[in-house]
Amino acid sequence: MTRLTLTLGDITRQHADAIVNAANSSLLGGGGVDGAIHRAGGPGILAECRALRASRYGRGLPTGQAVATTAGRLPARWVIHTVGPVYGPDGGGDPELLASCYRESLRVPDELGARTVAFPAISTGVYRWPLDDAARIAVRAVREAETAVEEVVFVLFDERAYEAFARYAGTPGDDADGPGAPAAP
Ligand code: APR
Repeated sequence: MTRLTLTLGDITRQHADAIVNAANSSLLGGGGVDGAIHRAGGPGILAECRALRASRYGRGLPTGQAVATTAGRLPARWVIHTVGPVYGPDGGGDPELLASCYRESLRVPDELGARTVAFPAISTGVYRWPLDDAARIAVRAVREAETAVEEVVFVLFDERAYEAFARYAGTPGDDADGPGAPAAP
């Protein structure tokens, strides 16, 4: 059974075997989590992303899929890049694609032997997925995933996201990392 914990903070400071990036299909960086991971992790991550584009993912990483690269200077061994769906009818706002991001981001670590995985709240920023619905989908997908990963840490960037995830995860997480973290619910 994979243990779920929540923490408030910056995912680029999270110690884990693998850190999940809310990327876009180009794999060539962007804003939000993507920009933070590339900035903090350094050029080695982008170099491996470019190599993936030049080989297996010539047309980009499809929504809902996941792929691993080095974590560069981050306190992790790997970054798992996954592409969430954009919310709304024009963005293929399919909840199953969002669930797939979590499932696939737990399948790839199984191939690597990673046992702890840190997730951001995928699709809830630029891709505009409503936080509460994204939290429900995320927690359910992780709970239902068949994986050898022992711990999943949801790293939430603000208290609103933390509270949304806590509603579904049900258990107060490790607040140690979150400066000004809310009292455990
Ligand atoms: N640590 C943890 N969470 C973060 C961080 C961080 N350093 N920075 C942002 N977040 C949170 C946001 O507050 C949001 O809740 O991550 C969640 C996802 O937001 P985005 O990063 O905008 O990701 P997403 O909505 O999936 O959109 C992906 O945005 O940055 C571009 O290249 C990316 O095109 C892609 C799109």
